[in-house]
Amino acid sequence: MCVPSVFLFCFCVWIFCMTYEAWRSLSQDMPYEDFMAQIQACPRECHCPHNFPSAVYCDNRELKRIPKIPPHTLYLYLQNNLLEALSKEALSNATQLRWVNLNRNRITNEGLEEGALGAMAQLSQLYMDDNLLTSVPAGLPHSLEQLQLSRNRISTIPAGVFSGMDQLNLLDLQGNKLMDGAVTEVSFKGLGGLVQINLAKNQLSSMPVGLPPTTMQLFLDSNNIERIPLDYFKGLPKVAFLRLNHNKLSNSGVPRNVFNISSILELQLSHNQLTEVPFISPGLEHLHLDHNQIKSVNGSDMCPVSAKALEDYANDNAPKLRFLRLDGNDIPPPIPRDVVTCFRLLRSIVI
Ligand SMILES: *[C@@H]1O[C@H](CO)[C@@H](O)[C@H](O)[C@H]1NC(C)=O
Ligand SMILES: *[C@@H]1O[C@H](CO)[C@@H](O)[C@H](O)[C@H]1NC(C)=O
Ligand SMILES: *[C@@H]1O[C@H](CO)[C@@H](O)[C@H](O)[C@H]1NC(C)=O
Repeated sequence: MCVPSVFLFCFCVWIFCMTYEAWRSLSQDMPYEDFMAQIQACPRECHCPHNFPSAVYCDNRELKRIPKIPPHTLYLYLQNNLLEALSKEALSNATQLRWVNLNRNRITNEGLEEGALGAMAQLSQLYMDDNLLTSVPAGLPHSLEQLQLSRNRISTIPAGVFSGMDQLNLLDLQGNKLMDGAVTEVSFKGLGGLVQINLAKNQLSSMPVGLPPTTMQLFLDSNNIERIPLDYFKGLPKVAFLRLNHNKLSNSGVPRNVFNISSILELQLSHNQLTEVPFISPGLEHLHLDHNQIKSVNGSDMCPVSAKALEDYANDNAPKLRFLRLDGNDIPPPIPRDVVTCFRLLRSIVI
Protein backbone atom coordinates (compact mmCIF):
# COMPACT_ATOMS: atom_id res chain seq x y z
CA MET A 1 0.00 0.00 0.00
CA CYS A 2 2.83 2.25 0.99
CA VAL A 3 4.85 1.98 -2.16
CA PRO A 4 2.19 3.27 -4.59
CA SER A 5 1.37 6.29 -2.40
CA VAL A 6 5.05 7.19 -2.08
CA PHE A 7 5.25 6.84 -5.80
CA LEU A 8 2.17 9.04 -6.21
CA PHE A 9 3.61 11.62 -3.86
CA CYS A 10 6.87 11.74 -5.78
CA PHE A 11 4.96 11.97 -9.00
CA CYS A 12 2.97 14.95 -7.70
CA VAL A 13 6.12 16.65 -6.50
CA TRP A 14 7.66 16.01 -9.89
CA ILE A 15 4.63 17.49 -11.70
CA PHE A 16 4.72 20.50 -9.39
CA CYS A 17 8.44 20.99 -10.00
CA MET A 18 8.01 20.73 -13.75
CA THR A 19 5.17 23.24 -13.79
CA TYR A 20 7.00 25.54 -11.44
CA GLU A 21 10.12 25.23 -13.55
CA ALA A 22 8.13 26.02 -16.69
CA TRP A 23 6.70 29.10 -15.03
CA ARG A 24 10.06 30.17 -13.59
CA SER A 25 12.02 29.87 -16.79
CA LEU A 26 9.47 31.16 -19.24
CA SER A 27 6.77 33.23 -17.59
CA GLN A 28 8.48 35.45 -15.12
CA ASP A 29 6.26 38.34 -16.04
CA MET A 30 3.19 36.48 -14.75
CA PRO A 31 2.97 35.79 -10.99
CA TYR A 32 2.90 32.07 -10.17
CA GLU A 33 -0.67 32.15 -8.77
CA ASP A 34 -1.92 33.86 -11.92
CA PHE A 35 -0.06 31.36 -14.07
CA MET A 36 -1.74 28.45 -12.25
CA ALA A 37 -5.17 30.09 -12.42
CA GLN A 38 -4.65 30.67 -16.12
CA ILE A 39 -3.56 27.11 -16.89
CA GLN A 40 -6.34 25.60 -14.76
CA ALA A 41 -9.03 27.70 -16.42
CA CYS A 42 -7.90 26.77 -19.91
CA PRO A 43 -11.02 25.65 -21.80
CA ARG A 44 -11.00 22.07 -23.06
CA GLU A 45 -11.47 23.33 -26.64
CA CYS A 46 -8.39 25.54 -26.55
CA HIS A 47 -4.65 25.35 -26.19
CA CYS A 48 -2.92 27.43 -23.50
CA PRO A 49 0.84 27.07 -23.91
CA HIS A 50 2.84 27.01 -20.66
CA ASN A 51 5.63 29.00 -22.24
CA PHE A 52 3.24 31.75 -23.37
CA PRO A 53 0.50 31.69 -20.75
CA SER A 54 -1.00 35.05 -21.71
CA ALA A 55 -2.09 33.57 -25.05
CA VAL A 56 -5.07 31.29 -25.59
CA TYR A 57 -5.42 29.45 -28.89
CA CYS A 58 -8.97 28.45 -29.85
CA ASP A 59 -8.56 28.88 -33.60
CA ASN A 60 -9.49 26.38 -36.34
CA ARG A 61 -11.76 24.28 -34.14
CA GLU A 62 -15.20 24.63 -35.72
CA LEU A 63 -16.38 26.36 -32.56
CA LYS A 64 -19.95 27.65 -32.57
CA ARG A 65 -19.70 29.45 -29.28
CA ILE A 66 -16.86 31.16 -27.47
CA PRO A 67 -15.54 29.06 -24.58
CA LYS A 68 -15.03 30.64 -21.13
CA ILE A 69 -11.80 32.56 -21.54
CA PRO A 70 -9.31 32.38 -18.62
CA PRO A 71 -8.70 35.49 -16.49
CA HIS A 72 -5.12 36.38 -17.43
CA THR A 73 -5.47 36.19 -21.21
CA LEU A 74 -3.93 39.04 -23.19
CA TYR A 75 -3.92 37.44 -26.64
CA LEU A 76 -6.92 35.48 -27.80
CA TYR A 77 -7.01 33.50 -31.04
CA LEU A 78 -10.51 32.60 -32.23
CA GLN A 79 -10.06 32.86 -35.98
CA ASN A 80 -11.42 30.30 -38.42
CA ASN A 81 -14.37 29.01 -36.48
CA LEU A 82 -18.14 29.05 -36.91
CA LEU A 83 -18.88 31.75 -34.36
CA GLU A 84 -22.03 33.75 -34.98
CA ALA A 85 -22.11 35.70 -31.76
CA LEU A 86 -19.95 37.37 -29.14
CA SER A 87 -21.42 37.36 -25.65
CA LYS A 88 -20.35 39.44 -22.69
CA GLU A 89 -20.46 36.37 -20.46
CA ALA A 90 -17.77 34.38 -22.32
CA LEU A 91 -15.22 37.14 -21.87
CA SER A 92 -16.34 38.30 -18.42
CA ASN A 93 -13.26 36.97 -16.58
CA ALA A 94 -10.81 38.00 -19.29
CA THR A 95 -10.63 41.64 -18.33
CA GLN A 96 -7.12 42.28 -19.60
CA LEU A 97 -7.43 41.35 -23.27
CA ARG A 98 -5.14 43.35 -25.57
CA TRP A 99 -5.51 41.49 -28.80
CA VAL A 100 -8.45 39.46 -30.13
CA ASN A 101 -8.50 37.65 -33.46
CA LEU A 102 -12.02 36.80 -34.67
CA ASN A 103 -11.17 36.66 -38.38
CA ARG A 104 -13.09 34.23 -40.59
CA ASN A 105 -16.16 33.58 -38.48
CA ARG A 106 -19.86 34.30 -39.08
CA ILE A 107 -20.41 37.13 -36.68
CA THR A 108 -23.27 39.49 -37.48
CA ASN A 109 -24.14 42.83 -35.89
CA GLU A 110 -27.10 41.13 -34.22
CA GLY A 111 -24.76 38.51 -32.76
CA LEU A 112 -22.66 41.11 -30.96
CA GLU A 113 -24.17 41.42 -27.51
CA GLU A 114 -24.44 45.03 -26.40
CA GLY A 115 -21.42 45.92 -24.30
CA ALA A 116 -19.46 42.79 -25.26
CA LEU A 117 -16.85 44.73 -27.22
CA GLY A 118 -16.70 47.70 -24.86
CA ALA A 119 -16.10 45.39 -21.89
CA MET A 120 -12.62 44.71 -23.24
CA ALA A 121 -11.41 47.94 -21.73
CA GLN A 122 -7.74 47.45 -22.58
CA LEU A 123 -8.10 46.02 -26.06
CA SER A 124 -5.67 47.50 -28.54
CA GLN A 125 -6.19 45.29 -31.62
CA LEU A 126 -9.40 43.78 -32.86
CA TYR A 127 -9.42 41.57 -35.94
CA MET A 128 -12.84 40.88 -37.43
CA ASP A 129 -11.98 40.37 -41.10
CA ASP A 130 -14.19 38.00 -43.10
CA ASN A 131 -17.31 38.03 -40.97
CA LEU A 132 -20.91 39.01 -41.76
CA LEU A 133 -21.07 42.51 -40.29
CA THR A 134 -23.30 44.96 -42.15
CA SER A 135 -22.29 48.06 -40.22
CA VAL A 136 -19.32 49.20 -38.16
CA PRO A 137 -20.14 47.73 -34.73
CA ALA A 138 -21.23 50.07 -31.96
CA GLY A 139 -19.67 50.16 -28.51
CA LEU A 140 -16.05 49.69 -29.57
CA PRO A 141 -13.51 50.00 -26.75
CA HIS A 142 -11.89 53.45 -26.65
CA SER A 143 -8.50 51.82 -26.12
CA LEU A 144 -8.43 50.36 -29.65
CA GLU A 145 -5.37 51.18 -31.76
CA GLN A 146 -6.10 48.94 -34.74
CA LEU A 147 -9.44 47.84 -36.09
CA GLN A 148 -9.63 45.35 -38.96
CA LEU A 149 -13.03 44.92 -40.58
CA SER A 150 -12.11 43.95 -44.12
CA ARG A 151 -14.29 41.71 -46.26
CA ASN A 152 -17.51 42.00 -44.32
CA ARG A 153 -20.73 43.40 -45.81
CA ILE A 154 -20.50 46.79 -44.23
CA SER A 155 -22.65 49.39 -45.94
CA THR A 156 -23.17 51.83 -43.07
CA ILE A 157 -21.03 53.69 -40.57
CA PRO A 158 -23.42 54.74 -37.79
CA ALA A 159 -23.01 58.39 -36.75
CA GLY A 160 -20.86 58.70 -33.64
CA VAL A 161 -19.59 55.11 -33.81
CA PHE A 162 -15.97 56.33 -33.54
CA SER A 163 -16.52 59.04 -30.98
CA GLY A 164 -13.81 59.11 -28.32
CA MET A 165 -11.55 56.76 -30.29
CA ASP A 166 -8.45 58.92 -30.22
CA GLN A 167 -6.11 55.96 -29.91
CA LEU A 168 -7.12 54.33 -33.17
CA ASN A 169 -4.36 54.66 -35.74
CA LEU A 170 -5.38 52.00 -38.27
CA LEU A 171 -8.83 51.41 -39.72
CA ASP A 172 -9.24 48.71 -42.35
CA LEU A 173 -12.58 48.68 -44.14
CA GLN A 174 -11.49 47.23 -47.47
CA GLY A 175 -13.72 44.80 -49.33
CA ASN A 176 -17.02 46.07 -47.97
CA LYS A 177 -20.09 47.65 -49.53
CA LEU A 178 -19.63 51.31 -48.71
CA MET A 179 -21.19 53.74 -51.16
CA ASP A 180 -20.83 57.53 -51.25
CA GLY A 181 -23.92 58.14 -49.12
CA ALA A 182 -22.49 56.04 -46.29
CA VAL A 183 -19.38 58.19 -45.93
CA THR A 184 -20.31 61.65 -44.67
CA GLU A 185 -18.61 64.52 -42.83
CA VAL A 186 -19.47 62.89 -39.50
CA SER A 187 -18.61 59.26 -40.34
CA PHE A 188 -15.04 59.38 -39.02
CA LYS A 189 -15.65 61.91 -36.28
CA GLY A 190 -13.73 61.01 -33.13
CA LEU A 191 -10.73 59.42 -34.84
CA GLY A 192 -8.31 62.06 -33.61
CA GLY A 193 -5.19 59.95 -34.15
CA LEU A 194 -5.95 58.06 -37.33
CA VAL A 195 -2.88 57.43 -39.50
CA GLN A 196 -3.94 54.74 -41.96
CA ILE A 197 -7.32 54.13 -43.53
CA ASN A 198 -8.08 51.47 -46.11
CA LEU A 199 -11.29 51.87 -48.10
CA ALA A 200 -10.18 49.83 -51.11
CA LYS A 201 -12.67 47.51 -52.86
CA ASN A 202 -15.81 49.35 -51.88
CA GLN A 203 -18.35 51.08 -54.13
CA LEU A 204 -17.27 54.70 -53.81
CA SER A 205 -17.61 56.98 -56.81
CA SER A 206 -16.37 60.09 -54.97
CA MET A 207 -13.43 60.74 -52.71
CA PRO A 208 -14.44 60.06 -49.09
CA VAL A 209 -15.24 63.15 -47.03
CA GLY A 210 -14.59 63.83 -43.37
CA LEU A 211 -11.24 62.04 -43.07
CA PRO A 212 -9.20 63.16 -40.04
CA PRO A 213 -6.39 65.63 -40.85
CA THR A 214 -3.91 63.21 -39.20
CA THR A 215 -4.32 60.72 -42.09
CA MET A 216 -1.00 59.74 -43.68
CA GLN A 217 -1.98 56.63 -45.63
CA LEU A 218 -5.11 56.62 -47.72
CA PHE A 219 -5.93 53.52 -49.77
CA LEU A 220 -8.82 53.75 -52.20
CA ASP A 221 -7.95 51.15 -54.82
CA SER A 222 -10.68 49.37 -56.78
CA ASN A 223 -13.56 51.79 -56.33
CA ASN A 224 -15.34 53.75 -59.06
CA ILE A 225 -13.84 57.15 -58.35
CA GLU A 226 -14.03 59.49 -61.33
CA ARG A 227 -12.87 62.81 -59.98
CA ILE A 228 -10.97 64.53 -57.20
CA PRO A 229 -12.12 67.96 -56.01
CA LEU A 230 -9.47 70.66 -56.44
CA ASP A 231 -9.09 71.36 -52.72
CA TYR A 232 -9.49 67.76 -51.57
CA PHE A 233 -6.03 67.39 -50.03
CA LYS A 234 -6.11 70.78 -48.27
CA GLY A 235 -7.92 68.95 -45.48
CA LEU A 236 -5.27 66.23 -45.34
CA PRO A 237 -1.99 68.07 -44.75
CA LYS A 238 -0.06 64.93 -43.74
CA VAL A 239 -1.01 62.55 -46.52
CA ALA A 240 2.10 60.66 -47.65
CA PHE A 241 0.89 57.40 -49.22
CA LEU A 242 -2.00 57.67 -51.62
CA ARG A 243 -3.33 54.71 -53.58
CA LEU A 244 -6.02 55.10 -56.20
CA ASN A 245 -5.24 52.14 -58.47
CA HIS A 246 -8.14 50.61 -60.42
CA ASN A 247 -10.51 53.56 -60.45
CA LYS A 248 -12.03 55.65 -63.23
CA LEU A 249 -9.90 58.74 -63.06
CA SER A 250 -9.38 60.68 -66.27
CA ASN A 251 -7.55 63.98 -66.71
CA SER A 252 -10.84 65.86 -66.83
CA GLY A 253 -11.56 64.62 -63.28
CA VAL A 254 -8.08 65.34 -61.97
CA PRO A 255 -7.34 69.09 -61.63
CA ARG A 256 -3.80 69.73 -62.82
CA ASN A 257 -2.50 70.75 -59.42
CA VAL A 258 -4.42 68.36 -57.20
CA PHE A 259 -1.42 66.11 -56.40
CA ASN A 260 0.90 69.03 -55.69
CA ILE A 261 0.90 68.00 -52.01
CA SER A 262 4.00 68.86 -50.02
CA SER A 263 3.78 65.82 -47.70
CA ILE A 264 3.31 63.17 -50.39
CA LEU A 265 5.89 60.39 -50.89
CA GLU A 266 4.01 57.76 -52.85
CA LEU A 267 1.27 58.14 -55.45
CA GLN A 268 -0.31 55.12 -57.14
CA LEU A 269 -2.65 55.76 -60.07
CA SER A 270 -2.30 52.50 -62.00
CA HIS A 271 -5.24 51.19 -64.06
CA ASN A 272 -7.12 54.44 -64.57
CA GLN A 273 -7.99 56.43 -67.69
CA LEU A 274 -5.40 59.17 -67.56
CA THR A 275 -4.15 60.52 -70.87
CA GLU A 276 -1.56 62.91 -69.43
CA VAL A 277 0.95 62.78 -66.60
CA PRO A 278 -0.49 64.78 -63.70
CA PHE A 279 1.57 67.50 -62.07
CA ILE A 280 3.50 66.14 -59.11
CA SER A 281 5.27 67.72 -56.17
CA PRO A 282 9.09 67.81 -55.88
CA GLY A 283 9.00 65.59 -52.77
CA LEU A 284 7.27 62.62 -54.44
CA GLU A 285 9.46 59.47 -54.43
CA HIS A 286 7.26 56.76 -55.98
CA LEU A 287 4.87 57.29 -58.87
CA HIS A 288 2.76 54.55 -60.47
CA LEU A 289 1.07 55.54 -63.71
CA ASP A 290 1.08 52.18 -65.45
CA HIS A 291 -1.98 50.93 -67.36
CA ASN A 292 -3.49 54.27 -68.26
CA GLN A 293 -3.86 55.84 -71.72
CA ILE A 294 -0.86 58.15 -71.66
CA LYS A 295 0.59 58.68 -75.15
CA SER A 296 3.63 60.80 -74.43
CA VAL A 297 5.76 62.12 -71.64
CA ASN A 298 7.29 65.57 -71.73
CA GLY A 299 9.98 65.83 -69.09
CA SER A 300 10.01 69.59 -68.95
CA ASP A 301 6.21 69.71 -68.57
CA MET A 302 6.32 67.05 -65.90
CA CYS A 303 9.27 68.49 -64.00
CA PRO A 304 8.08 70.00 -60.71
CA VAL A 305 10.96 72.50 -60.48
CA SER A 306 12.19 75.13 -62.87
CA ALA A 307 15.08 74.56 -65.26
CA LYS A 308 17.03 77.18 -63.33
CA ALA A 309 16.58 75.36 -60.02
CA LEU A 310 17.71 72.11 -61.68
CA GLU A 311 21.07 73.60 -62.59
CA ASP A 312 21.83 74.18 -58.95
CA TYR A 313 23.05 70.74 -57.80
CA ALA A 314 23.12 71.76 -54.16
CA ASN A 315 19.45 72.70 -54.27
CA ASP A 316 17.43 70.79 -51.67
CA ASN A 317 14.31 71.30 -53.75
CA ALA A 318 15.55 69.01 -56.52
CA PRO A 319 12.82 66.46 -57.40
CA LYS A 320 13.01 63.35 -55.21
CA LEU A 321 11.39 60.88 -57.63
CA ARG A 322 13.18 57.52 -57.44
CA PHE A 323 10.70 55.05 -58.89
CA LEU A 324 8.45 55.57 -61.92
CA ARG A 325 6.12 53.13 -63.63
CA LEU A 326 4.74 54.02 -67.05
CA ASP A 327 4.24 50.56 -68.57
CA GLY A 328 0.89 49.59 -70.05
CA ASN A 329 0.43 52.98 -71.72
CA ASP A 330 0.96 54.00 -75.34
CA ILE A 331 4.32 55.65 -74.82
CA PRO A 332 6.86 54.76 -77.49
CA PRO A 333 10.43 54.24 -76.24
CA PRO A 334 13.01 55.62 -75.62
CA ILE A 335 12.59 57.44 -72.34
CA PRO A 336 12.76 61.16 -73.13
CA ARG A 337 16.06 62.71 -72.16
CA ASP A 338 14.38 65.57 -70.33
CA VAL A 339 12.77 63.10 -67.87
CA VAL A 340 16.21 61.92 -66.82
CA THR A 341 17.53 65.47 -66.72
CA CYS A 342 14.78 66.51 -64.33
CA PHE A 343 14.62 63.46 -62.05
CA ARG A 344 18.26 63.00 -61.25
CA LEU A 345 17.57 60.61 -58.35
CA LEU A 346 15.52 58.23 -60.49
CA ARG A 347 16.74 54.68 -59.83
CA SER A 348 14.12 52.73 -61.69
CA ILE A 349 11.78 53.50 -64.54
CA VAL A 350 9.45 50.92 -66.08
CA ILE A 351 8.15 51.88 -69.50
C1 LIG B 1 -15.05 33.23 -13.98
O1 LIG B 1 -14.25 32.82 -12.89
C2 LIG B 1 -14.97 32.16 -11.87
C3 LIG B 1 -14.03 31.92 -10.69
O2 LIG B 1 -12.86 31.31 -11.13
C4 LIG B 1 -15.56 30.86 -12.44
O3 LIG B 1 -16.30 30.21 -11.44
C5 LIG B 1 -16.47 31.22 -13.61
O4 LIG B 1 -16.96 30.05 -14.22
C6 LIG B 1 -15.71 32.04 -14.64
N1 LIG B 1 -16.62 32.48 -15.66
C7 LIG B 1 -16.28 32.56 -16.96
C8 LIG B 1 -17.34 33.00 -17.89
O5 LIG B 1 -15.18 32.27 -17.37
C1 LIG C 1 2.83 73.49 -55.74
O1 LIG C 1 2.64 73.83 -54.39
C2 LIG C 1 3.59 74.74 -53.88
C3 LIG C 1 3.27 74.99 -52.42
O2 LIG C 1 2.99 73.82 -51.77
C4 LIG C 1 3.56 76.04 -54.66
O3 LIG C 1 4.55 76.90 -54.18
C5 LIG C 1 3.76 75.76 -56.13
O4 LIG C 1 3.61 76.93 -56.87
C6 LIG C 1 2.76 74.72 -56.62
N1 LIG C 1 3.05 74.39 -58.00
C7 LIG C 1 2.23 74.70 -58.98
C8 LIG C 1 2.65 74.33 -60.34
O5 LIG C 1 1.16 75.23 -58.77
C1 LIG D 1 7.63 69.85 -73.92
O1 LIG D 1 6.86 70.95 -73.46
C2 LIG D 1 7.48 72.18 -73.62
C3 LIG D 1 6.68 73.27 -72.94
O2 LIG D 1 5.37 72.90 -72.73
C4 LIG D 1 7.68 72.46 -75.13
O3 LIG D 1 8.31 73.71 -75.32
C5 LIG D 1 8.52 71.35 -75.70
O4 LIG D 1 8.64 71.50 -77.10
C6 LIG D 1 7.94 69.98 -75.40
N1 LIG D 1 8.87 68.95 -75.79
C7 LIG D 1 8.55 67.96 -76.62
C8 LIG D 1 9.65 66.98 -76.92
O5 LIG D 1 7.43 67.85 -77.10
